[in-house]
Amino acid sequence: MKIHLDTKCLPRHIAVIMDGNGRWARRRGLPRVEGHREGMNSVRSIIQTCGEIGVSYLTLYAFSTENWKRPRGEIRFLMKLLVEYFKREISELHGRGVRIRMLGRREPIPAGVLTSIDNAVRLTRDNRGLNLNLAFNYGGRREILDAVDTWLQMKPRPGLTEEIFSRVLYTGGIPDPDLLIRTSGEYRISNFLLWQLAYAEIVVSPVLWPAFRRPELMQVLAEYQRRERRFGGVRPVHA
Ligand code: IPE
Ligand code: IPE
Ligand code: MG
Repeated sequence: MKIHLDTKCLPRHIAVIMDGNGRWARRRGLPRVEGHREGMNSVRSIIQTCGEIGVSYLTLYAFSTENWKRPRGEIRFLMKLLVEYFKREISELHGRGVRIRMLGRREPIPAGVLTSIDNAVRLTRDNRGLNLNLAFNYGGRREILDAVDTWLQMKPRPGLTEEIFSRVLYTGGIPDPDLLIRTSGEYRISNFLLWQLAYAEIVVSPVLWPAFRRPELMQVLAEYQRRERRFGGVRPVHA
């Protein structure tokens, strides 16, 4: 089925909770990490599609501050996967004008992983294409506390308004997400962008992340375009 999207009503910012890698693998009798590996192909497909259709910001939840509770081998695999991803894809991403940012705390991410993230961020900082934000060692509550710290250290310290507070979050300067997608059928926020999601449209897809590709994204976008965004008012507006 061909999906027709209204290009004037696309979300400017899409945030994704990429969930279901472990279940995808288990259902095939594979170790959980194989789901993470296949999930990288979905990452590639979604980044490419967002770039093509003209989405400005894509934020991917890749590792939460709670994910350190996982078995050590799985954590190590996820760290290695990110380094390998950048090694393999950074020149193509850069060539397509993607600008990479990292959202999250640096400690306790291993030094080698931080170097590879820092290099990708530095290389792409002047790019003007898709803004790709990687939420890595990200926690929404931690971000809010860090923002309070940043604000307390400002000299002179401005009065605390919503605008000032937004500016000191990790996402300072990035518009709030219009659309939050969570894959794998889970109806939870899991400590993601607690402040920024205030008025995002939420779409939960039953599809597990490693199987979530361009057609699944198009379907979610069609659902988004059927929504009425009211922002507390009465007249429907689209971002
Ligand atoms: C999402 O898939 C990837 C990360 C959280 C890093 P999961 O690993 O959470 O997969 P499920 O939810 O166990 O299936
Ligand atoms: C959320 O998925 C974190 C990421 C996708 C990186 P989880 O699988 O960790 O979340 P819970 O534990 O199901 O809430
Ligand atoms: Mg999960």
